[in-house]
Amino acid sequence: MKIEIISDIEEMQAFSDGRRRQGQTIALVPTMGFLHAGHSSLMSRARQSGDILVVSIFVNPAQFGPGEDFATYPRNMKNDLSITGEEGVDIVFTPGDKALYPEGYETYVSLTNLPEHLCGTFRPAHFRGVATVVAKLFNIVTPHVAIFGQKDYQQLAVIRRMVRDLNFGIQIIGAPTVRDPDGLAMSSRNNYLTARERPAALSLYRSLMKAAQLVQSGVRDAARVIHAAAELIQSYADTKIDYVSICDPDTLDDVKTIDRPSLMALAVRVGKTRLIDNMILKP
Ligand code: PAJ
Repeated sequence: MKIEIISDIEEMQAFSDGRRRQGQTIALVPTMGFLHAGHSSLMSRARQSGDILVVSIFVNPAQFGPGEDFATYPRNMKNDLSITGEEGVDIVFTPGDKALYPEGYETYVSLTNLPEHLCGTFRPAHFRGVATVVAKLFNIVTPHVAIFGQKDYQQLAVIRRMVRDLNFGIQIIGAPTVRDPDGLAMSSRNNYLTARERPAALSLYRSLMKAAQLVQSGVRDAARVIHAAAELIQSYADTKIDYVSICDPDTLDDVKTIDRPSLMALAVRVGKTRLIDNMILKP
């Protein structure tokens, strides 16, 4: 099937209805575009899980807070279409802002507990915006399966909970984080980094590796591991830590003793760029 670009919501719904009636399964990869190899890995995972592969590209205003980078978020549709072409995507769904959030829009999906942790504390309406747009994309594209990256661990947790709580009946697959050869987790926002800032950006991955080593060597005290990681990050110029946390992988509640697999998650500002990364620490 030749790649097709659909912007119209009803056309997308009609397409999915038709395919579902023919008994085909639909796999969806939601994105905000400026695609990179992390996104491509989600697409190849999705390719294995459905007959029809839909990738949505939409920079969602509802998940950006005041003063965040909505206006400057990188966009490059031409390059995105070349990547989706290479990955054998069937449909690129690119709705407009006004179509998804028309005048008078007032319905949002918000979770009570998960957003009270990690990034949610620093970006108050972020996960409400994410859950809302993903719920809308699910209703429009009606996928059987949707793929999300573990790089945005809390986002994946929020989506899994929403799907369960609201009975979406969609299979959610989490895909591993794709990194540059030096370890930096790929992100559209890496585009903001200057050559001078790049070493500081690597401090996130290095601190996760350091934490994993400490746990391997028998350290179980979460506070000690967090301290060592924070110290490493702060040894780089231009870094400012939002948080370094070790928490339960399901509830995201803080863990004091690493006596079971625990999530280490961090958010660091490097100059003006906010970066996140995470890893499961296994005692
Ligand atoms: P975006 O940042 O474009 O990411 C789209 C998907 O790609 C997400 O599931 C994200 O976790 C995944 N991803 C990003 N970098 C990755 C990497 N290095 N390795 C593996 N997967 C990676 O996340 C969003 O967009 C939005 O919040 C969205 C879910 C589309 C809702 O607007």
